[in-house]
Amino acid sequence: MNERVVTESPKAKTLPDAQTVTEVTHWTDRLFSFRVSRPQSLRFRSGEFVMIGLMGDNGKPLLRAYSIASPNWDEELEFYSIKVPDGPLTSRLQHIRPGDQIILRPKPVGTLVLDALLPGKRVWFLATGTGIAPFASLMRDPETYDKFEEVVMMHTCRTVEELEYGRKLVEDLVNDPLIGEMVEGKLKYYPTTTREEFHHMGRITDNLENGKVFKDLGIAPMDAEHDRAMVCGSLAFNKDVMKVLEGFGLREGANSEPREYVVEKAFVGDGI
Ligand SMILES: Cc1cc2nc3c(=O)[nH]c(=O)nc-3n(C[C@H](O)[C@H](O)[C@H](O)COP(=O)(O)OP(=O)(O)OC[C@H]3O[C@@H](n4cnc5c(N)ncnc54)[C@H](O)[C@@H]3O)c2cc1C
Ligand SMILES: NC(=O)c1ccc[n+]([C@@H]2O[C@H](COP(=O)([O-])OP(=O)(O)OC[C@H]3O[C@@H](n4cnc5c(N)ncnc54)[C@H](OP(=O)(O)O)[C@@H]3O)[C@@H](O)[C@H]2O)c1
Repeated sequence: MNERVVTESPKAKTLPDAQTVTEVTHWTDRLFSFRVSRPQSLRFRSGEFVMIGLMGDNGKPLLRAYSIASPNWDEELEFYSIKVPDGPLTSRLQHIRPGDQIILRPKPVGTLVLDALLPGKRVWFLATGTGIAPFASLMRDPETYDKFEEVVMMHTCRTVEELEYGRKLVEDLVNDPLIGEMVEGKLKYYPTTTREEFHHMGRITDNLENGKVFKDLGIAPMDAEHDRAMVCGSLAFNKDVMKVLEGFGLREGANSEPREYVVEKAFVGDGI
């Protein structure tokens, strides 16, 4: 009987689909972002999400959906994350450091992609909390500015410090020697808070319905012929903002049937 002995070469990576953490930034005691190496073969459309995680105590991967926050031209991948105190994944993930490994399943999917929208003049990115993550990718993608003359990023959080990741990202984008030019005059950033004093306040739903955002930015009100929208927030936010968009005449689309707006949940559940 022939017996073949195969000696496996030692694996450099200990986790399946392992990627290495290169940078971690803590923005508040409940928000952080991190960058990891990018699998060479990973192609994705800005706005899509992947499953990432850590090895669980039971030896099985503990995975959660995460929007890719970096643009598709970036050689690394960036994520923006909540820290849920007793969350199975984020109670541990919040402690990662450069050099650590995470699991990343390289199968990007999602509805927040430019292909799911009909052509238009202006696109609205509407996000609460960590829902800004897919737009951190889309705002840095040249295709967004090729397809639309104007891009409005509305981001609402309870407090000012929770807006900081988005504020810094837009500032860096505008000042970037290469991309800055593409964005100039096209990207309009409208951050608001709801529970702390700030120069602009109020829920996205209210600021659209009462017309405050159009007045503050000096732009025309939303209309179904020219405007497209992408929505990412809590279930309650998504539901309410959809009603507002429908009120302006926009209809929900999908990858298979592009229309005037698309929606994705920023998380499952009612909140922490
Ligand atoms: C399509 C999709 C994309 C997602 N993208 C991101 C992302 O880019 N960044 C991110 O931080 N999370 C994202 N999430 C949520 C993420 O999948 C996990 O739920 C989150 O990492 C918490 O994991 P956990 O195991 O610690 O707790 P879980 O058991 O997953 O969640 C515990 C509870 O915490 C609350 N919660 C979970 N995530 C959030 C959040 N982001 N903001 C506020 N409350 C939350 C929910 O009420 C949930 O019931 C996404 C979810 C979906 C469905
Ligand atoms: N943010 C914090 O400081 C904090 C701290 C500890 C725990 N938590 C918990 O974490 C969970 C998630 O909190 P979060 O702040 O990330 O998300 P969130 O509660 O969804 O709030 C994020 C932003 O969205 C607004 N919003 C919520 N529902 C909306 C709706 N239906 N229509 C329009 N706007 C809406 C909020 O305005 P309003 O303020 O008007 O609701 C807030 O500005 C919650 O369960 C919360 O209790 C939050």
